[in-house]
Amino acid sequence: MNTFTFSYPTKVYFGVGIAEEALKQELAKIGKTVMLAYGGGSIKKSGVYDILKNMLLQADKEVVDFAGIMPNPTYKKVQEGAKLAKEADVDFILAVGGGSVIDCCKVISAQAMITDDIWSMEYEAGRFPTTGIPMGVVVTASGTGAEMNAGAVITYEEKVWKGPIAGTSASFAILDPDYTATVPPLQVLSGAFDTLSHAMETYFGNSDQDNVSDDVALAIMRNTIVNMRRLVKDIYDMQARGNLMWDSAMAENGILKVGRLTDFQAHQIEHQLGAYTDCNHGQGLAVIQPVYYRHILKEAEEKFTRFAKEVFGSDTPEEGLEALSSLIMECGLPTKLRELKSKTEITPEILRKVADTCNIIPCNPRELSREEIYEILCECM
Ligand code: NZQ
Ligand code: ZN
Repeated sequence: MNTFTFSYPTKVYFGVGIAEEALKQELAKIGKTVMLAYGGGSIKKSGVYDILKNMLLQADKEVVDFAGIMPNPTYKKVQEGAKLAKEADVDFILAVGGGSVIDCCKVISAQAMITDDIWSMEYEAGRFPTTGIPMGVVVTASGTGAEMNAGAVITYEEKVWKGPIAGTSASFAILDPDYTATVPPLQVLSGAFDTLSHAMETYFGNSDQDNVSDDVALAIMRNTIVNMRRLVKDIYDMQARGNLMWDSAMAENGILKVGRLTDFQAHQIEHQLGAYTDCNHGQGLAVIQPVYYRHILKEAEEKFTRFAKEVFGSDTPEEGLEALSSLIMECGLPTKLRELKSKTEITPEILRKVADTCNIIPCNPRELSREEIYEILCECM
């Protein structure tokens, strides 16, 4: 184990029907004006909006709606939210949605408290936010684990860049599996693959092998896969949704990462692919990750052997990767870039730009060259 400190700022309320009790406790602690932030309208259709708004009004809050946060949230949307939060003198932000809504709100929270442009502050001046409007989260689509950390992933369209911006951690997160019941089936499984990806990306980082975090990561991978398969049989298996909701949270709350380095190279490639194509995050990973792993297998043979055996019951690392590809197909997730929904045609020129602009991770089994990233992307076509 490497040296580490670990503390956790987010109180989690988990379970069917938990929101009422959770909000009764939490709303008593916060100021009068609450920004209720959400996406493109799923929470209005599902009824979650009405439930939460009524609870806010009953707690005597003034509610300021901030709607229309899109999947792969943009920097422009962050600025729009921060402007509204300042103008309305918002005391608290309640983010209701999946990773996109949660991430957008983390940065709105931080941006609203400073006069600097937050991207320039973080990426040019190397300074990070130390304060933010307090926020809470109600998760309606699980997978990213975004409710469990302060890091957001934002698309800066003008810069054709998708990457991390540090924001605010939620003081509480409400995880009610029933709130995910209306998520479209493909999104449910895409989210679950994202969770699996987070555990794999953490496990394959360069670290000593004798590491308790690896055992936890392997357990999360196994549980995620078991429950993905349950959902393939019955997408409304709410017990499986609940397990996946907690797998998702566990994979990104920092527990798997203590005392070790992480990889996350597949994520860096997918994020930049997202900047060019606006593709779905979990689906992009499903295409990229097996191909990437075939490239680095020889540099981490021992780890891939253990992964194959303990996660898929396979005898060799190659068979383990085949089992990963089979799982992706079984779940109906895309296996080729051309199957992804994209705002633009995915051409070799686009792939070259993705390879030339994505982050390169130094602590994975082998640092990739830009040429090899381009090769990986071409193999994904
Ligand atoms: O916008 P609405 O209408 O709400 O529809 C959303 C959206 O279209 C829909 N949805 C959410 N809850 C629903 C629902 N539909 C019906 N019923 C419900 N209960 O689902 C669609 C996708 O939502 P989105 O939030 O975009 O999905 P996800 O949770 O996968 O988040 C993806 C974003 O998170 C980032 C990704 O890059 C991407 O931008 N990530 C954030 C991470 C983090 N902060 O830790 C880590 C991840 O690796 C990831 O990069
Ligand atoms: Zn992810």
